[in-house]
Amino acid sequence: MNQHTEIHSSLRTVEWKNNTVIMIDQTKLPNKLEYVKFKDYRKVAQAIKDLVIRGAPAIGVAGAFGLALASLQSKAKTKEKLLEDLEKAKKILFETRPTAVNLAWGLDKIMQVASNGNTVDEIKKTVVDTAQKMAVEDVEINMRMGKFGSELFANNDTIMTHCNAGALATVGYGTALGVIRATRDSGKSIKVIATETRPVMQGSRLTAFELKHDNIDVSLIPDTAVGYAMSKGMVNKVVVGADRILSTGHVYNKIGTYQVATMAKQHNIPFYVAAPLSTFDLNSKPDDIIIEQRKASEVTGVAGKKTAPDGINVINPAFDMTPPELITGIITEVGVAKPPFVESIRKLFESKL
Ligand code: MRU
Repeated sequence: MNQHTEIHSSLRTVEWKNNTVIMIDQTKLPNKLEYVKFKDYRKVAQAIKDLVIRGAPAIGVAGAFGLALASLQSKAKTKEKLLEDLEKAKKILFETRPTAVNLAWGLDKIMQVASNGNTVDEIKKTVVDTAQKMAVEDVEINMRMGKFGSELFANNDTIMTHCNAGALATVGYGTALGVIRATRDSGKSIKVIATETRPVMQGSRLTAFELKHDNIDVSLIPDTAVGYAMSKGMVNKVVVGADRILSTGHVYNKIGTYQVATMAKQHNIPFYVAAPLSTFDLNSKPDDIIIEQRKASEVTGVAGKKTAPDGINVINPAFDMTPPELITGIITEVGVAKPPFVESIRKLFESKL
């Protein structure tokens, strides 16, 4: 591992510098590329909640950085008191967003190294070092995933993607967009169709911004044009990210993913998911998963302008579940899982041991 891993996209979503967490304020994109700085873990928690930072791997690392701040903020004189302070911070960070499993993964990893430490000073140092290492590894993992994924895409493919699973959803490079970057970097000529991704517009605000920034040919479509584009032969393959993947291959991702996958099946278009092993939850069943419900104002207005009558009832789930039978393959940093997923996912985890 190299602290200076090359970032192929110049966008660095979140980083740790001088005991401060620095992140791109994604609520301002694409109009302004602004960075915000935090020294208080509660502010990091609020930033996760408000989608200043979003995307499963990015919030996993942001959670770890939040705990690193909490360790520095703690006035504890004993290991026990420091662990108590960290538990309190973990709860606040954990309760920000319920669906992406990477957040719990990042927090648990930090709590594990903290409880293995001996002295207060040693724990603070290892917690900060581990969080920084997780950020570096996130980029390396995405690049390995990109290599595996790029082999599935051909010259002249037009690839559809939904939401933003790019550099902006990770520390850098991206999962689904990492696969797209790696395919382009392998010398293949590709085009991308990005969905707008109502209601928060991660597709138009973030994916379109990010791909244009990297000179990748991208066209934006309304979510409602997915069927049109596929039926007209405009799409060869789909690749999306994930917030949580179960041992059975059930994939939780941005609301609308299920519709895109269903349409892809209807038109015999391969549908791929790209996600690191930290996005897998091998212990839960579909009924256990909490789908985050977000505020009504995301649906009743566009860019602060009201587009629905006052008092209207709103249903605004942030994620949906795509069943394994709609998925062609799941691309990870250790290889590609193909159906039947129970077996292939188990093998991926065994290969990691
Ligand atoms: O609500 P968001 O913007 O955090 O949702 C993000 C997604 O659904 C992404 O597709 C997913 O986190 C994968 S990111 C590599």
